Amino acid sequence: MLRAAAWVHWVLFRPCTGLSVRMISSGIDRKGVLANRVAVVTGSTDGIGFSIARRLAQDGAHVVVSSRKQQNVDRAMAALQGEGLSVTGTVCHVGKAEDRERLVATALEHGGGVDFLVCNAAVNPLVGSTVGASEQVWDKILGVNVKAPALLLSQLLPHMENRRGAVILVSSVVAYMPYVELGAYNVSKTALLGLTRTLALELASKDIRVNCLVPGLIKTDFSKVLHKNEAFWNKFKENQRLQRIGQPEDCAGLVSFLCSPDASYITGESIAVAGYSPRL
Ligand SMILES: NC(=O)c1ccc[n+]([C@@H]2O[C@H](COP(=O)([O-])OP(=O)(O)OC[C@H]3O[C@@H](n4cnc5c(N)ncnc54)[C@H](OP(=O)(O)O)[C@@H]3O)[C@@H](O)[C@H]2O)c1
Repeated sequence: MLRAAAWVHWVLFRPCTGLSVRMISSGIDRKGVLANRVAVVTGSTDGIGFSIARRLAQDGAHVVVSSRKQQNVDRAMAALQGEGLSVTGTVCHVGKAEDRERLVATALEHGGGVDFLVCNAAVNPLVGSTVGASEQVWDKILGVNVKAPALLLSQLLPHMENRRGAVILVSSVVAYMPYVELGAYNVSKTALLGLTRTLALELASKDIRVNCLVPGLIKTDFSKVLHKNEAFWNKFKENQRLQRIGQPEDCAGLVSFLCSPDASYITGESIAVAGYSPRL
């Protein structure tokens, strides 16, 4: 009986091989908490993705930045390298298979493997109703926002195994509370909550955790159609308890935490960074 209890205690509380005491402590020194790890962040030359890339690099990771336009990749890399951060980059339109291949190859150049994948890139080519969306619009939104993260992950997965890695998908509060003008985009962001749950189950045996960042209204180029609209903003403030618009940096710390050993028992979760969210 005593031997059985001792065994259970050992299984639950044994030190994790390969992790230093600092790595498994609860964030006493978070700087460098992601040292020697490699992160791939899609759509990371601007807005939320750029902030996430910067924060992961500040916390010690080597980060691969990417987006559709070479000049944006160059600008983001120059800015981050100018801050002394370890980054590389490449063009990657997440909807294009050959671009995803190149992103994987660029990530592998650094150290032969990848620890973290943050799927941040998304599009919304239509501001309008779901029933008004053409088949082409549906294909574009679901292809880039939902299919691409899953396909990129399958391309990266052989290089993520046995590294205790993490995947973060980026959804939106419209997944919980659809905004009527955002039609098919709402649906794509709700689908990501399901993708998070399914992937968390599928990848648990590989010790890869999958969680979801759920931003509220964040001040970026993407959201300017909303935050520059006074009528929308006044209505929005009625339910927005913190009475301010979020900044991209508000999202970045959570992603770093979800990648870190402090989150090693968290998978399948969706966490809102929204100043308040309607979700129970
Ligand atoms: N801002 C908000 O209020 C808000 C709220 C909830 C959720 N979100 C989500 O947060 C994520 C980031 O949004 P954001 O507001 O930060 O957008 P943003 O400021 O417009 O930045 C988007 C980034 O993604 C890149 N990008 C766009 N389409 C791409 C594609 N097909 N493949 C690869 N990269 C692409 C852009 O660079 P290129 O132009 O060079 O490709 C840019 O670097 C999205 O998933 C969005 O749905 C945003």
